[in-house]
Amino acid sequence: SDIEKGTYPHFMLKEIDEQPFVMRKIIQEYQDENNQIKLDQDVREAMKACDRVYIVACGTSYHAGLVGKEFIEKLAKVPVEVHVASEFSYNMPLLSEKPLFVFISQSGETADSRAVLVKIKEMGYPALTITNVPGSTLSREADYTLNLYAGPEIAVASTKAYTAQIAVLAILAVDTAQAKGIELDFDPLQELAIVANAMEVLTDQKEAIEDLARNYLETTRNAFFIGRSSDYYVCLEGALKLKEISYIQAEGFAGGELKHGTIALIEEGTPVIALATQTDVNYAIRSNVQEVAARGANAMVISMKGLEQDSDAFVLPHVHELLTPLATVVPLQLLAYYAALHRDCDVDKPRNLAKSVTVE
Ligand code: G6P
Repeated sequence: SDIEKGTYPHFMLKEIDEQPFVMRKIIQEYQDENNQIKLDQDVREAMKACDRVYIVACGTSYHAGLVGKEFIEKLAKVPVEVHVASEFSYNMPLLSEKPLFVFISQSGETADSRAVLVKIKEMGYPALTITNVPGSTLSREADYTLNLYAGPEIAVASTKAYTAQIAVLAILAVDTAQAKGIELDFDPLQELAIVANAMEVLTDQKEAIEDLARNYLETTRNAFFIGRSSDYYVCLEGALKLKEISYIQAEGFAGGELKHGTIALIEEGTPVIALATQTDVNYAIRSNVQEVAARGANAMVISMKGLEQDSDAFVLPHVHELLTPLATVVPLQLLAYYAALHRDCDVDKPRNLAKSVTVE
């Protein structure tokens, strides 16, 4: 390919490091000369006209969709459902009167997602595709497209496309809120600039994360990620990253749900990675950490400045509470990267996986 790794040993590490630049590129592309959001008028109208948004995606893009649901519901007050494409095709939920379908796909070529797009177009419903590849199948076949501007993503494990998807979804949610006349004290363009700086701080802390990977993940068979509210969605993505490239069996859980079954798996030394970036649930997630630690877990807390405690393994720079997934995911991407590296795994081309899955 024309894309080179440069001085990087792997595309994945390069793409993790590119995230601050991708945030700045997105700000540039979605900002007008008055520092207001610039977005296709047709997309704005479609978002305003619908009574419910159906997000359809696979894998990492599905995880970005879960974060997007939070934005659109909390900011624009439009109900959102998020569906795994392969399930939606065969088991379609009851639809609202005026649905808008939003396909999230890095490649724009995923067959599972396309099958849903074909079906809902036959039914006459409007579709918006959020993709990193302009001119891709999902982009061409949908009514509207929003581009991610993340640049080519080569590593099979998606990193910069995930954060780009979340950034664009935040802009879309705020734009919809504004179109509906909802007053917000949240400027996503300004807050994304702060996120870009935070990501730079994070990508400069590789050694600290590599140490955590060594101390927590070097010999383990399994690992758990726990978090509440939006931290939970990032846990799902953190676990997927770790599984994909290190082959450690990993699961993301809502902090409160672990005790309803999975806590049975906690043994002496089982790694549990807890995310604590949300004020409302800070106390609750820390009780969950105590519950697993009391059963022998090797627990680490990744928290955010302002909510940190002395015993925390890693503290993220402060970013707006809605946008914490963009910061939190960076150390989780790096944890997965170093865990895979230490186990001599093929980081950029993990077994059994393809970058773009064009079969259903
Ligand atoms: C494949 C990749 C995943 C990706 C998923 C969805 O399974 O290995 O990393 O998240 O497809 O891809 P898309 O291009 O639709 O975002």
